[in-house]
Amino acid sequence: MQNLEKIVILDFGSQYTQLIARKVRECGVFAEIYPYNITEEKLREISPKGIILSGGPSSVYADEAPHPVFDIFSYGVPILGICYGLQLIAFKLGGSVDKAAHREYGRAELITNSQNPLFEGISANSTVWMSHGDALTKLPDNFEIIAHTLNAPICAIHSPERNIWGVQFHPEVHHSTEGKKILDNFLRNICGLKDSWDAHSFVERAIENIREQVGTSEVICALSGGVDSTVLAVLLHRAIGDKLHCIHIDTGLMRQNESTKLMKLFDENFNMSIELIDGSEHFLNGLEGVSDPEQKRKIIGKSFIDLFDVAAKKFNNAKWLAQGTLYPDVIESVSVKGPSVVIKSHHNVGGLPEKMGLKLLEPFRELFKDEVRAVGRELGVPDWFVNRHPFPGPGLGIRILGEITREKIATLQKADAIYIEEIRNAGLYDQIWQAFAVLLPVKSVGVMGDERTYENTCVLRAVTSVDGMTADWFPMPYDVLARMSNRIINEVRGINRVVYDITSKPPGTIEWE
Ligand code: XMP
Repeated sequence: MQNLEKIVILDFGSQYTQLIARKVRECGVFAEIYPYNITEEKLREISPKGIILSGGPSSVYADEAPHPVFDIFSYGVPILGICYGLQLIAFKLGGSVDKAAHREYGRAELITNSQNPLFEGISANSTVWMSHGDALTKLPDNFEIIAHTLNAPICAIHSPERNIWGVQFHPEVHHSTEGKKILDNFLRNICGLKDSWDAHSFVERAIENIREQVGTSEVICALSGGVDSTVLAVLLHRAIGDKLHCIHIDTGLMRQNESTKLMKLFDENFNMSIELIDGSEHFLNGLEGVSDPEQKRKIIGKSFIDLFDVAAKKFNNAKWLAQGTLYPDVIESVSVKGPSVVIKSHHNVGGLPEKMGLKLLEPFRELFKDEVRAVGRELGVPDWFVNRHPFPGPGLGIRILGEITREKIATLQKADAIYIEEIRNAGLYDQIWQAFAVLLPVKSVGVMGDERTYENTCVLRAVTSVDGMTADWFPMPYDVLARMSNRIINEVRGINRVVYDITSKPPGTIEWE
């Protein structure tokens, strides 16, 4: 996106790089992440108003340590180095870095020089989060110390001459209590940036860009019923009206009444008509007798493409296929160390644009999930919808372990609906990243009334997470668990045992397949 004042974050491999971008955006400034080895030419093209050097796992002295490929310190805009970024400044500009006498991981008290614009308004003893083995032992030339901690005499530095700042701690993490204010100081006091990034301005620019890009041609959008594709469809409709064609395929593997609710949402709130295709027969026939999870995914993916292809053919003026690709999907591929986590093959319409000869339209390529939600709210998508938990493309197909049958789908839908209803009733829904029920092909003995039962097991899973890459199991209160279990066993035929999953990710995954 041109003409938007922005910050560039150079990625030296830190697990927190994305978090820096999010925090900068929360400060109302647009930020983009680029690999550490960006060329000067490319940087001039982007023309940032300031640069942040991320942390990273390497030592600056290591052979394979990532270093910029040109003299970034003379580039001419303010620079803030964080952790490894600070050490890089020292290494390149005449300071030295050594194994710290006291490795510091965790909270520390920062004693600042409040005269410095970076620390304006920061309390004298602010809590910050440290995570490093190396530390500065000698200041680079023409730098001064602007903060220290008990274990790090050189914790933050500044060169007025060069317009460069460096901090050993991580202002971007939640535990640095005034970290966001420190970043905000860098953006406003030092780089002179103003508010340029919020959902409202994003929507205005995106509408303009979509109109310009699409011109008089038409766009097809695959509406899965998830938050991303729903917000995307509403945005596109706002931009190009009837030139948008939305197709929703009911795979038969959706949650209870999902497709009906989706149609209603669009009809009542946006006056948009969606082409609904009942594909359940096609999907379930393809899945008959299949138990292997990867094979299930492949069959579901292929069935989707088959049906979508046929449905889309009638829109022969369409030149574009819209997808809700998000920023984390885009940057995973440029990270220093390559993708640190395996990129999932979840792109459920993967391969479609090539097959159909369509160009890709991806207006959310620069957004994080929470920003898509904010855009959704800005566009009037109701809160209950934008706050919904993520739902995988293959749906209940990967939550029914083993072979899938219509009967099992109906059983799981009922159990899942009760589970989610109880979570909502307990006011816990928004504290959880994702919650769902899983049906196991494991039978056990029970007793109901005077009768012996021999039925399936239902697993309840709920996790907290920021991005789905790592997750903790959610400590569901016992009384809520008791209600859920009671209701599921009493109300859902085919289930006589309920268990709660207490596995984090890693080592588990969020889904069971
Ligand atoms: P895992 O199970 O890999 O899930 O820890 C991480 C996140 O990705 C979702 N997920 C999928 N989404 N197609 C999707 O569209 C898939 O095949 C798929 N598998 C997992 C999962 O629900 C969680 O949010």
